[in-house]
Amino acid sequence: MTQAPTILVFDSGLGGLTVYREVTAARPDARFIYAADDAAFPYGGWTELALSERVVSVIGALIKQYEPDLVVIACNTASTLVLAELRRRFSIAFIGTVPAIKPACAASRSRLVSVLGTEATIAREYTRTLIRDYGEGCEITLVGARRLAPLAEAHLRGEPADPRIVAEEIAPCFVEQGGRRTDTVVLACTHFPLLLEALGAAAPWPVTFIDPARAIAHRVIDLLGPARPEPRQTARIHFTSGAAPAPRLSAALGAFGFALAPADA
Ligand code: DGL
Repeated sequence: MTQAPTILVFDSGLGGLTVYREVTAARPDARFIYAADDAAFPYGGWTELALSERVVSVIGALIKQYEPDLVVIACNTASTLVLAELRRRFSIAFIGTVPAIKPACAASRSRLVSVLGTEATIAREYTRTLIRDYGEGCEITLVGARRLAPLAEAHLRGEPADPRIVAEEIAPCFVEQGGRRTDTVVLACTHFPLLLEALGAAAPWPVTFIDPARAIAHRVIDLLGPARPEPRQTARIHFTSGAAPAPRLSAALGAFGFALAPADA
């Protein structure tokens, strides 16, 4: 590749920014487009067939518009459903985001691991297969949280996350059994690292929260090679709703490095 690569990072909303910030740190020289399918957010409540069709069609349109060299699906709910189909349909490289069960089970000392995702990700056959293949004899508790992704979006817009809701949603992750306690929680939704502080505060005892973002950035380097000494390019953000972000959200996006020109907003 003679030119800097173009990387499209995609999520249902703004959770994929937690992946985006690691990928931009790894390849600051690349051209980035962050696409949020906010018109369809949240993905957690969609049926599999409808969501599959939706993601294939939105990604198809984004590929046509931006001609990326690589697409990072920064969404567990989409990746656990349509990654294989996307690879079949389009001839460019895809990196998905799926529950980090393997590293979590390798790291757990108590052998009690929880997976916290959207209800859809938790119900997926893909997730069950990961557990069968990489569970390493750990006891795994699957926890589907309906309210956390919208809460993370609101948090990014400047509304403090209600600690009562966070505590209620994560409570089933914390298991005590035969003198052992859960020590590792997989964040299987890219929105959840946006709430890391609130999650830590609501945890009844300290655990390690596993965020896959850095591993995904390493995968990008594996596929595209390391960064070149070229200046950082202005990243674009694309909302499928076409709606302009409100001022507080624009400020939050500024912190992720997006300059919201009127044409982008
Ligand atoms: N950020 C998404 C994920 O990783 C999904 C949130 C949603 O749209 O429900 O699963």
